[in-house]
This record gives sequence, structure tokens and C-alpha cells, in this order.
Amino acid sequence: MSEVCQRITLCKPAEVEAGKAIRVEKGGLALAVFNLDGEFHVTDDACTHGPGSLSEGCITGDVVECDFHNGAFNIRTGEVVQPPCMIPLKTYRTVVDSDGFVSIEL
Ligand code: FES
Repeated sequence: MSEVCQRITLCKPAEVEAGKAIRVEKGGLALAVFNLDGEFHVTDDACTHGPGSLSEGCITGDVVECDFHNGAFNIRTGEVVQPPCMIPLKTYRTVVDSDGFVSIEL
């Protein structure tokens, strides 16, 4: 039995500057697409602590700090690295597909 894999195309790599993120709404999801030195990572855009939008957060290395209450997450793993956040951030398997788009696989 094969696993069902849904791929959602989000953006072109050039739309996200290195060290930055953009918000993309697609497939009923609100996502943050991060470019960490040419490596793309996708998480939920909503902070797990409140109304913060992580695509507008401050990125240092592979950590994003929410600009609401300064909680922070590891962008690669979603793990909380700074309170007041307690709940990890959802991350998505991210690929640059053969058509050259940043996509996630569900
Ligand atoms: S809403 Fe993000 S740290 Fe509170």
C-alpha cells in the first residue's frame, strides 16, 4: 500500500531573500517560508503562543523570534527555544521541486 502524498506549491525560491521569510496562504494553510542561506524551510505562520506572525519575526541563524512576546522557535525542527512559547511549531517537509518551485509534501 503506498502512502498518499500531496504536494503544495508555494513560491519561487527568488521570492524569499536569504535570511528572510514570506507568508503564503495555500491549501487552507497559512505558512511561513524561510530561506536559510538557500535552504528552504516551511512552518505554520501562526505563533503557537498567540497572534504573532512568524514570517514577520526576527530570524537569527535557524531561529525565528516572534515579535509579539519574543518567544522563539527552531525553524528546522519547530522546537521551542525561548519562552513564553510552550508548544512546538508545526514544520513541513519542504522541497524545491523539478519545476523550480518551493513546495511542501503532506
Ligand atoms: S504570540 Fe508569539 S510569543 Fe506570544
